[in-house]
Amino acid sequence: MSIRILFLGEIVGRPGIQALKDGLKKLKEQRKVDFVVANGEGVTSGFGIGKNHALQILKLGVDLITTGEKTYFKKEMVEHIVTNNRIVRPANYPAGNPGRGFRICEIGGMKVGFITLLGTSDFPRTHLANPYLAAQALIEKMGTETDAICVQFHASTSAEEQTMAHHVAGKVAAMIGTHTKVLTADGRILNGNTAMITDNGRCGSAVSVGGFEAKSEIERFLTQIPSRSSESWGMLELQGVIVEIDGSGKAADIETIRYVAATTSEKPAS
Ligand SMILES: [Fe+2]
Repeated sequence: MSIRILFLGEIVGRPGIQALKDGLKKLKEQRKVDFVVANGEGVTSGFGIGKNHALQILKLGVDLITTGEKTYFKKEMVEHIVTNNRIVRPANYPAGNPGRGFRICEIGGMKVGFITLLGTSDFPRTHLANPYLAAQALIEKMGTETDAICVQFHASTSAEEQTMAHHVAGKVAAMIGTHTKVLTADGRILNGNTAMITDNGRCGSAVSVGGFEAKSEIERFLTQIPSRSSESWGMLELQGVIVEIDGSGKAADIETIRYVAATTSEKPAS
């Protein structure tokens, strides 16, 4: 017995949603995916996740949404996250914050625990508890109730991600990095147990700056004048990894996915 979990990279804005519409169903069928986890904190124009967008991506085939430092950017999410148990926010937010930091899901007869944590570098507006200690405590707590555990670590430096991977290696089935929206080439299995990747990329435009038009990002760096990022529609891809977990709760395989959903440089009629 084994199960296959697709961890999609951060969904960026309307192009990211379009990529899901175009490709997720086919990708799931073709690759025999049992469960889909996606980082959704950029689904509303790249900055946060609104209630309707959360419901929309769940309807499009995502089973569990993870978030990061933008969890509460959309005010309505502060309330919605309490009632929607298919959204998991970082567990190292202050105790008692709205939402939940972990969830146990039944997949193919296995109880799989999902933990989301946020890194501490380069998030000047969030000051969360030590994610490494939180990981340790949660893995211990969930160990007896689950057949396998997956950690999603939302951090801005590769050093933090790799450190977390080695910290939890041997104790969990997967440690998947998110946030930078750049798919890394280091997917591997550590200690014969734990599938890891530093960052699982993005769902949205592959020819862009993190899903946004390069022009406006360049302009901001040239002038230092704050401006809005604009969504890019060039070469839409679903990026992520598929992790196969065997019946003993160990990772049997990790495969990097770049699924070209559509190729367009034009915004579709809304
Ligand atoms: Fe983020």
